[in-house]
Amino acid sequence: MKPAPFRLAVLASGRGSNLRALIQAQERGELNTRIVGVFSDRPACAALALAREHGIPTLAAKPAKFASRQAFDEFLFEEIQAVQPDLIVCAGYMRLISESVVRRFPGRMINIHPSLLPKYPGLDTHMRALAAGDCDHGASVHCVIPALDAGAVIAQARVPVLPDDDSERLASRVLQREHSLLVQCVKAISEGTIVLTGTQIHWRGSLLRSPLALNESGQLEEST
Ligand code: GRF
Repeated sequence: MKPAPFRLAVLASGRGSNLRALIQAQERGELNTRIVGVFSDRPACAALALAREHGIPTLAAKPAKFASRQAFDEFLFEEIQAVQPDLIVCAGYMRLISESVVRRFPGRMINIHPSLLPKYPGLDTHMRALAAGDCDHGASVHCVIPALDAGAVIAQARVPVLPDDDSERLASRVLQREHSLLVQCVKAISEGTIVLTGTQIHWRGSLLRSPLALNESGQLEEST
């Protein structure tokens, strides 16, 4: 018998293309997951509209209406906790989450970031990779810890930087790979192939010492 779907809560602030990738993989039956809620700090964002189109419950609140970052996060994450997620996925969620709230979900919160971490945490990653003259760029899925984009990296997708790249062209090439990277990471976590403990990552029963790589066939493998 198929196990009960793995429950995902997704946080998003913008266009929602990573959320779309998760929804499509779930609808195709590639993921045995159920997106039990999409949560946002931007009530008008496209990601929320997309969730609603697919009948997924949504909740958004404006941070400015709360007395502090902490108060906003307490409110949002209580709502998230109420949907009993197995995993919280930050997919283009553009806010730092308070330390005390992050600490409540050890090994249960991941983020997708558009750079080969530890390079370029924060914003403008594509521009920074171009300015540095990097040959390779990409995306990382990592565990969320209280420091910005600093949690253990689970897996990465690498793309070459091409001679005529500008930041938009490079961003769109990275984004395509982000979608499979996120889906494959969620699949592996939901199936228990990847186990997150909060500080460590286990892959097929062994401690992972360096991030997995998304190969050309869109599968995760140990990096060489
Ligand atoms: C992605 O590049 C993601 O890596 C970053 O924000 C962007 C969100 O894109 N954290 P989308 O909203 O999923 O289309």
